[in-house]
Amino acid sequence: MKNYQDDVRVGLLGFGTVGQGLVQGINLQIDNISSRLGAPLKIQRALVQDANKKRVVGLPELTTNARDILEDPDIDIVVEVMGGEQPAYDYIKQALGQRKQVVTANKLLLAQHGPELKALAQRNGKGLLYEASVLGGIPILRTIQHGLCGDKVEEVKGIFNGTTNFILTRMVELGEDYPTALRLAQEAGYAEAEPTMDVSGLDAACKLVILCRECFDLEFHLKDVTMSGIEHLDQRQITLEKRQGRIPKLIACAKPQNGEIQVGVQWLPETDLLSRVSGVQNALSLKTLLAGELFWSGPGAGGLATGGAVLGDIMEAAERVLTERDTVFQQTGK
Ligand code: NAP
Ligand code: HSE
Repeated sequence: MKNYQDDVRVGLLGFGTVGQGLVQGINLQIDNISSRLGAPLKIQRALVQDANKKRVVGLPELTTNARDILEDPDIDIVVEVMGGEQPAYDYIKQALGQRKQVVTANKLLLAQHGPELKALAQRNGKGLLYEASVLGGIPILRTIQHGLCGDKVEEVKGIFNGTTNFILTRMVELGEDYPTALRLAQEAGYAEAEPTMDVSGLDAACKLVILCRECFDLEFHLKDVTMSGIEHLDQRQITLEKRQGRIPKLIACAKPQNGEIQVGVQWLPETDLLSRVSGVQNALSLKTLLAGELFWSGPGAGGLATGGAVLGDIMEAAERVLTERDTVFQQTGK
């Protein structure tokens, strides 16, 4: 039986942009994290597809066998940062079945299976935390769940995809062509492994579905979202609109009272706050009953910013692990 002060051990499913950003973020403040937590935090092992691939940070151990993480009794928290629907869906279910705390950044999975996975976590008495799945480094889910629990959200609107905002900003401000800007977004680690998910509007739609669940307690399917992306935009159209003082932004918006839930390009005047959110930044504007209009902006993608959001969830999951150990100790003396 583990003591309260023993390491809290984390297993990573995936060690790409976000997984490595997470480890870099931990390395930058390791003593601070352990003292804040009251126990050492240890990344035990990471699952990858290709263990020989060059990484920007080293880990003690990489594995290509998911069972080394899902079935390791020493691992307390499983962090899914591999992306895609499968096998991530099966792995999260197995981790919860093995009574591990789970953290994920996977919006596609949460948009499609969020309620089922949350119910499974609840049945197993474990946490399923997913702050990094929406708006990267902006800590918006906790804000909605805790800060706004006394208010009523009526409208959600914003820029929810960093890759497309980065591409559009470069096309507008530098006159860069679409393929070059997309390649740079991929090199920076902003884009999904399959970038169609970003440029088609699907990634923003997933985040909108999750936010509608959090803000309105309403369950939408991805097929309910009226969706279009940025693939059809060209430099000629952008130049013409720019002369009229309008710039393109991929805007996600939900007004449930009108049955409206959509993602698409809007041509915004320079006076619109959202038109000034540039590069990889994301933004969210909420209209609420009591506070009125609220606005947040910050990095929507990238290893360190997203890794920081994942780390916040790991800290919360680790506190649960330590509380459970404490309860067992109080009950059994071991
Ligand atoms: P990524 O760079 O493509 O990394 C994915 C990692 O998972 C890689 O290490 C890969 O192994 C591993 N992997 C993928 N499929 C696997 C499989 N079937 N078996 C074993 N390992 C597998 O992706 P990412 O950008 O870090 O994104 C991860 C998740 O975070 C996604 O759900 C994404 O939507 C979400 N997210 C990303 C960002 C961002 O800024 N990138 C922001 C917010 C949320 P190899 O390294 O060997 O290929
Ligand atoms: N590909 C996503 C984006 C990552 O560009 O916004 C953050 O969810």
